Amino acid sequence: MKNIAIIGFGVVGSGVYETIKTNKEILKRNTGEELRVVKVLDIRDFPDHEEKQIFTKDFNDLLNDESIDIVVETMGGVRFAYDYTKQLLEKGKSVVTSNKELVAKHGEEFFKIAREHNVRYLYEASVGGAIPIIRPIACDVAANDIVEVSGILNGTTNYILTKMFLENDSYDNALKTAQELGYAEKDPTADVDGIDACRKISILMSLVTHRKIDSEKVHTVGIRNLTTEDLTYAAALDCKIKLIGCGFVENGKVSASVEPMLVPNNSPLSSVEDVFNAAIVKGNMAGTLMFYGRGAGMLPTASAVVGDVVDIVRNPGYNSAYEWGESAPENELAYEDIVAKFFVCIKEEQLEKAKKEFGDIEIINGVTGLGFVAPKMSIKELDEKLGAIGGAVSRLRFYR
Ligand code: HSE
Repeated sequence: MKNIAIIGFGVVGSGVYETIKTNKEILKRNTGEELRVVKVLDIRDFPDHEEKQIFTKDFNDLLNDESIDIVVETMGGVRFAYDYTKQLLEKGKSVVTSNKELVAKHGEEFFKIAREHNVRYLYEASVGGAIPIIRPIACDVAANDIVEVSGILNGTTNYILTKMFLENDSYDNALKTAQELGYAEKDPTADVDGIDACRKISILMSLVTHRKIDSEKVHTVGIRNLTTEDLTYAAALDCKIKLIGCGFVENGKVSASVEPMLVPNNSPLSSVEDVFNAAIVKGNMAGTLMFYGRGAGMLPTASAVVGDVVDIVRNPGYNSAYEWGESAPENELAYEDIVAKFFVCIKEEQLEKAKKEFGDIEIINGVTGLGFVAPKMSIKELDEKLGAIGGAVSRLRFYR
């Protein structure tokens, strides 16, 4: 028998309870143990719950319960989750989390404590909901030099962009529906401004390089300022616009960024719609791999959380494959040094200057202005040229 506790009985926490209950026999077969949720910490009351006796508001009830080996932290946020996680690991309990903010901010600290106490800190559900991506990078693709990890890492914005692109829905209406469906975070700012995707690409690239990529320094642009004209340009270019978390390693330098990108329709990422996420991993031996599935939602996320629990029941001792250390800024590529192709929107009166700066450009006419594909160059060089023509109305990077 393995006793489990859950901290935070919201969407994901209750999904974890349901998964362990519904798949009791399968989990027993897969681990050789019966998994049982014996305590749930939440500040709210659940008087009608079938096991209301397992609920507590006192963290010490979990911390001091010697029978609990694994704690699932699905409360979100950093303040309490940080203290709880630290104390639990120090007490010799393994912790599984879906809390990307916490992993992105404090992962390296928790790995160190977990190592000292020979327990585990796992976070598969923090990126891509149900999609296996952390474990494949840590284990299955470990024989590779991983040169790229990028993809659609936020379900809410992908849902909104899909509704806008395919159904001509308005941004506001699509966001409201995403919230009603439980995809968006309580405060959708983190989704629509790219912060959620930023934490996820930071986690992935930290795992790839084993050095922390500080999410607060990652260049991040969300989807709030996209216009219907941008979508029209994208269609004319045979592309879709997707919010892409883009990570790569080139000449020993690591890059991570988040922004809406033009994804050509012949890229597998362009057909990833609705709340689905997809991550592309490129390894020097494996080639290109794509991981696809439901990136948000109660049971898909719970599936990843309980998968980590199963891993810990099978292998309870510390595993360095999942860790990273302090950041190494000297190994990071600045955003402006990325070399990329951009689509640039300008006003009609800027055209002659644009031709002088960018040479032979092919013009696409929009409703309020015009646009062109700038040749591949560093973002610094692009910005200098755009400065010389009086700035662009907008610019969109092509997915590499
Ligand atoms: N709000 C997140 C999303 C939830 O929409 O992807 C899953 O991390």
